Amino acid sequence: MTIDWNDTAREWHLTNGRTSWVLRVLENGWVALLHAGAPLAMGPSYRHLGPATFEGYDNRVNEPIGLAAPVPGVGDFRVPAIVVENPDGSTVLDLRYRAHRILAGKPPLAGLLPCTYVEDPAEADTLEIDVADAPTGVVVTLSFSIFRDWPVMARSMRIANDGPAGVVVRAAMSATLDLPDAAWTLQTLSGTWARERDVVERPLVPGRQGVGSLRGGSGAEHNPFLGLRRASTTEDAGEAWGIVLAWSGNFIAEADVDAHRTTRLRIGIHPDAFAWPLEPGAAFTTPEALLAWSGDGLGGMSDALHGVLRERMARGPWRDADRPVLLNNWEGTYFDFDHDRLVEMATAAKAMGIEMFVLDDGWFGARSDDHRALGDWNVNRVKLREGLEGVAREVHALGMQFGLWIEPEMVNADSDLFRAHPDWAIGIPGRKRTESRQQLVLDFARPEVVDHVADAIIAVLAAAPIDYVKWDWNRFITEPFTPSLPPERQGEFFFRYTLGMYELYRRLTTRFPDILFESCAGGGARFDAGMLAWAPQAWTSDDTDAVERLRIQWGSSLPYPLSSAGAHVSAIPNHQTGRLTPIDFRAAVAMFGAFGYELDPTAMTDAEREAVRHQVAFYVERRDLFQRGRFLRLRSPFEGDGNETAWMVASADGSRAVVAHYRVLQHPMPVRDRLRLRGLDPSARYLVTAWSSFDAPLGTVERGGDELMRVGIGIEPQEPVPAGAWADGVRIVRADFTARMFDLRRV
Ligand code: DGJ
Repeated sequence: MTIDWNDTAREWHLTNGRTSWVLRVLENGWVALLHAGAPLAMGPSYRHLGPATFEGYDNRVNEPIGLAAPVPGVGDFRVPAIVVENPDGSTVLDLRYRAHRILAGKPPLAGLLPCTYVEDPAEADTLEIDVADAPTGVVVTLSFSIFRDWPVMARSMRIANDGPAGVVVRAAMSATLDLPDAAWTLQTLSGTWARERDVVERPLVPGRQGVGSLRGGSGAEHNPFLGLRRASTTEDAGEAWGIVLAWSGNFIAEADVDAHRTTRLRIGIHPDAFAWPLEPGAAFTTPEALLAWSGDGLGGMSDALHGVLRERMARGPWRDADRPVLLNNWEGTYFDFDHDRLVEMATAAKAMGIEMFVLDDGWFGARSDDHRALGDWNVNRVKLREGLEGVAREVHALGMQFGLWIEPEMVNADSDLFRAHPDWAIGIPGRKRTESRQQLVLDFARPEVVDHVADAIIAVLAAAPIDYVKWDWNRFITEPFTPSLPPERQGEFFFRYTLGMYELYRRLTTRFPDILFESCAGGGARFDAGMLAWAPQAWTSDDTDAVERLRIQWGSSLPYPLSSAGAHVSAIPNHQTGRLTPIDFRAAVAMFGAFGYELDPTAMTDAEREAVRHQVAFYVERRDLFQRGRFLRLRSPFEGDGNETAWMVASADGSRAVVAHYRVLQHPMPVRDRLRLRGLDPSARYLVTAWSSFDAPLGTVERGGDELMRVGIGIEPQEPVPAGAWADGVRIVRADFTARMFDLRRV
């Protein structure tokens, strides 16, 4: 891995042998991006890949030009990276090269911004380039960190006001990326509550196209992710880009294709509802963006992002530790529980091998439903006569871990907290506050509000032995305003809110380093790279229907590793869709995530309990593969009629794998089919054991890795429905909703 500076050509080459970025100082002093993507040989100059200087863009006739720090109003009419309102009200900057530094390792970003890190300086190299605008004294530091182990570049930017007068930052992207052509298909992950992260694809067309959030959180509607692939790119071949933003608030992620068919990508804080005044001497640092380039298809893009997010964004003891199989009581009880019921549930869960019991919403204040008590973080003694400590003690006595739900950023109007501090809820004095789920959002831009909530939650977590926390966030922000800032600084509000949330995470994770945190936001509405720095797993979606989950988990897997995606087996009829699916099908889907259950185990049949016992044993034996293996997508639920999905996990050396093939509905006259696997050793022989339920394998055969990958593994047609197979709770109707799993071990 090297960052090379060619003083004669005034050119930098950043490469790790798997990707290259080449930048140079143009003759007018601007910094240009000559190349980003495929690895290039170190040594030669690549200055011929771009023009010698920048003379205005619109009438370009020679090579396209990529700019590293694009600004508006200077003849580059594509979307800018940096918009600064100067003391005279203009927004033009002339950012010329001033200095650069090449550093071993990767410095952290300022303040609480979540970012990747290194454990050894040899893991990454960093290039910082200062470009400066002489008339105002604005200095922008462009930061590029290239990792040794992944074809990933971490980008961020610092805007400093070294001039004599105040300026206002109106847009500050974490990264722009100029590509010389537009023959790409854009991928976004879009949806809504209970339908998060559908893969949405569109060939790029001239103009701006993209996604964003102005909800105060990254949102379920669009994820802070952009993918690009060529029309011919598959899971394992062809070019792809995957870009994520490590930020959990408002964002924009878009492509701008100009008249000359060049593409500019940009990702960062959404410039709407954002303005950051910079007094002389002050600076603003953007969140971090991670840009992964792959020449090995979408799978290579996911490998890179999974690796860096799992190993160098997630942190703390839970990064590498085995995640416990949990039972969450939410869908099993909702608000209707007491001490005895919880202990009965935990006892039944323990008998099935489940390792942790999680108490969800409803344990505090007068929380009998979702209309009241958010903010009152004192134990409801009517439900829990011995407090949390009593439940935790009994759960621990069973040999299980104990987890707890909180929603610290919220308040109900019907709460003691709101009655004491009505002004702590976000709103604009003199205007109505919009309620959502009958609740309001606390103003986390105010330090005293964060202080109060931190004290309250720390008291709860210190008073009982708690091993896990699920941190929920069930509505978006409306009427954005904080009385803690003067009118001219209200544009800081959303950014400061997210920093306030991160500050609470910082305090809780510092005070309780051994607690496993799972982020949640009414399902998966804040599932982003930034949250993974604080909570290594996230609740993927409130939709626990296994058929729906095929799409949700497939889409989530484009950027995010399996270890980050909470996935639970729930009861039937499914609470979101009403669908009846066999319990082994539900488990076969949920195992490809941070695995757990979300139902009332005391209401299960004996056959269901027996099935769960086998599922947990199957999972625990292969947990290492599910949690840390390489995830490989085989058949997409977004293709064709979506009736089939297949994916697998494999060890890095290809010696072990677990494959799953799912068929949603049976069709008449099914054909024999072969599923081609990936990630195996083509020269090795494998023992392949098939499972359709988890109690006993169907049989084992020996096959070559070459055959399994090049010819495929036989997927049997569905078996006919046996008479009387209806509704024993385990195998509802054998024909529909079937999963076939294969366990592979190198001989
Ligand atoms: C939304 C979450 O996504 C659910 O899992 C559950 O915790 C509820 N909130 C509780 O109110």
